[in-house]
Amino acid sequence: MPSETDKKKSKYTADRGWPGAFEGETLTRRGFMTGVAMGAGGVASAMFGLPALGFALGPIFSKTEHRALLDVGSTDDFDGETYVPVVITTTAGIGQAGKTLLYIRENSKPTKKQPWPYVAISTRCAHLGCPVRYIEAARSFICPCHGGTYDFEGGVTGGPPVRPLDRFTTVVKNGRVYVGERFSVNSQLERVSTRDAGEHVDGLWQILYPPRPTT
Ligand code: FES
Repeated sequence: MPSETDKKKSKYTADRGWPGAFEGETLTRRGFMTGVAMGAGGVASAMFGLPALGFALGPIFSKTEHRALLDVGSTDDFDGETYVPVVITTTAGIGQAGKTLLYIRENSKPTKKQPWPYVAISTRCAHLGCPVRYIEAARSFICPCHGGTYDFEGGVTGGPPVRPLDRFTTVVKNGRVYVGERFSVNSQLERVSTRDAGEHVDGLWQILYPPRPTT
């Protein structure tokens, strides 16, 4: 006859006197169902939580484009007053499809955020990627597709674009201006990792709409 102490140590729930216990059970049905429910809850939470965490942390590991420097002209070709359109080849071997238009001007007041000697602005609209045009009379960039407008620095002044126009790094060598990789900027014109059109880079929006892996 097992003692009371042995019963309390028994692996069988009936021996321990648990309510609803059946002979031979080591786990009550309630305990089993609770475990199943908690497990299912954990899986469901992970299904929602892990992708969100991945998207949130993704930008930390994202890369910028890296390509050889491209000669876009003499330093005499540009000044700080207006933009000069320049066509560069971003992808060789595919003809016109591999070319893109940039607007370049001298960076007469380099800052910590924008230390490059020349400002090279991408013409790819930050809404859906249509080509923007620089309008000298308005000192603005205009997108014909949905009316997006940008100021002289490429910051959004109207319409649906979600961030300023992308830029390219620049460097001067032997009196020639070269452009390097494209990068995106936030509303403060601070450099961030390169994004696709339509991707946010400010505030909570950048977490809710993280960069796509194709960028
Ligand atoms: S693509 Fe430029 S405003 Fe829509």
